[in-house]
Amino acid sequence: MAGKILVVDDDAANRELLQESLVAEGLEVITAPDGRSSLEEFARLKPDLVLLDVNMPFLDGFEVCRRLKSNPETRLTPVVLVTGLTGREDRVRGIKSGADGFLSKPVDHSELLAHVRSLLNLKAHTDELERAESVLFALARCIEGKDPNTEGHCERLSGYSVRLGEEIGLTEDQLVALRRAGIVHDIGKVAVPETILLKPGRLTPEEFRVIQQHPVLGERICAPLKSFRLVLPIIRHHHEKLDGSGYPDGLKGEEIPLTARVLQIVDVYDALTTQRPYKRAFSRAEALEMMEEEVKKGCWDAGIFQAFCKMPSGASAAAGHTAG
Ligand SMILES: [Fe+2]
Repeated sequence: MAGKILVVDDDAANRELLQESLVAEGLEVITAPDGRSSLEEFARLKPDLVLLDVNMPFLDGFEVCRRLKSNPETRLTPVVLVTGLTGREDRVRGIKSGADGFLSKPVDHSELLAHVRSLLNLKAHTDELERAESVLFALARCIEGKDPNTEGHCERLSGYSVRLGEEIGLTEDQLVALRRAGIVHDIGKVAVPETILLKPGRLTPEEFRVIQQHPVLGERICAPLKSFRLVLPIIRHHHEKLDGSGYPDGLKGEEIPLTARVLQIVDVYDALTTQRPYKRAFSRAEALEMMEEEVKKGCWDAGIFQAFCKMPSGASAAAGHTAG
């Protein structure tokens, strides 16, 4: 077994006992004597697994677990609550705080190792998945970097579509999908030649057909990642229009996934408020006026557009992108 384990207990004898058992298995162990210092050690040393006592001074184990599990940076690290409490209520509280497992005191050696082994395996898989995501994000940023007009666009689009999604009450899963889609939605442009991607002025019908392939190709690139299941429809359908005149599938109205309709509004606004070789950057008021016309023509979702208009202008003014 390999991995770094953070053992948190206010009782020094308990800490040492767990540490000895784990070090004997070849594992790296770090310890903390209370909840507050455990969070500092976690941030500093980024362990692969946390064994967490429940009753401790300052912050108890439930609260430490809740904090780790509510932070997107730390929530994928498994946490096991090690407790003398056996009541059902405490188990339920532990589950609610996001714990991945429980061990009862006094800790049984083989039960401890079985838990540790399976959760370290899980963490190794999660890390692998994160690496795959990082590769996709890096590729998406390279594509964005080819076009000097769209610098920083992906980050802005990602952050702002999440805020718009929150505004209209999307679920947490949908918001996570939007955050990812904001970064990778144009990843299919990797196959579009720069002569087309950066062409000033109008595209020929043939060039436009090449551009139109990017949502389908983007979907194909990201499809092997199971965690991107909710991201794929956003990638594929971010250029559809409500009246069916968009691409690649000519979907109409609510056939277009809600999350894709959210991303579109921010994407279009971004294109309008960003300077391009063939156009100046329009002001917020001008952009919203143009978009309102397009909503009336049946391009974009009226309800989502209204929610977008109500959002603070400072934030939306900071958005900006290519609709390509
Ligand atoms: Fe696109």
